[in-house]
Amino acid sequence: MYFEPMDYENAGLAHNPLKAIVTPRPIGWISSCGGDGSVNLAPYSFFNLVSDDPGIVVFSVQDSGPNRQKDTLRNVTETGAFTVNIVGAPQLQAMNTSSGDYPYGENEFVAAGLEMVPGKTVDVPHVGGVPSALECKLFETVKLPANSQGGHYTAVLGTVTGIFVDASVVVDGKISYAIISPVARMGYHDYANINDFFELRRPVLGN
Ligand SMILES: Cc1cc2nc3c(=O)[nH]c(=O)nc-3n(C[C@H](O)[C@H](O)[C@H](O)COP(=O)(O)O)c2cc1C
Repeated sequence: MYFEPMDYENAGLAHNPLKAIVTPRPIGWISSCGGDGSVNLAPYSFFNLVSDDPGIVVFSVQDSGPNRQKDTLRNVTETGAFTVNIVGAPQLQAMNTSSGDYPYGENEFVAAGLEMVPGKTVDVPHVGGVPSALECKLFETVKLPANSQGGHYTAVLGTVTGIFVDASVVVDGKISYAIISPVARMGYHDYANINDFFELRRPVLGN
């Protein structure tokens, strides 16, 4: 089958398939603070690393209604900092709890029963017990094109300024995915535990 992006129903599909096609997507579990000192935590799976030197991450925030922005975007715009927490298998339920639509200023660390570990290069806590966390300073926000209802996403780009790695996930100087068992977002309401790994080297040409 072939169809234009929003014509999926005529192609016999019940839901927009894009998020199910681009899988697995890592989850950026973003902690941030507002200018008033309030603390926030929410998951974003339109998330990835887009440069490793310097380290740059991106996540993308949907409007939460006409002229309403999600707390994470408000905080990042106000304070210019955020931290990406990596979700391991033990954090799955807490990550989901933190995605609830809590009023601005309500701390999802508390709602989800999580420990706040103070940041070093940014004044933002990370989640206690996570395998890794990336402290980031805001590089740029980019308002993405509107959809047919006028809603849009805003892409947030941040430069990694500090990296926390729990010593228990390091084996022989390398990050062990087997220990982390990363949680990824699939389409619909589906998730994946990534636990099958193999090595594949790029070809060396010209010899
Ligand atoms: C696994 C997962 C991934 C999500 N990814 C996104 C995303 O990429 N963009 C987005 O706008 N909302 C996403 N959401 C929804 C937000 O987490 C939710 O709207 C949350 O209440 C936003 O919180 P905030 O207002 O504190 O930032 C996701 C939810 C879950 C559970």
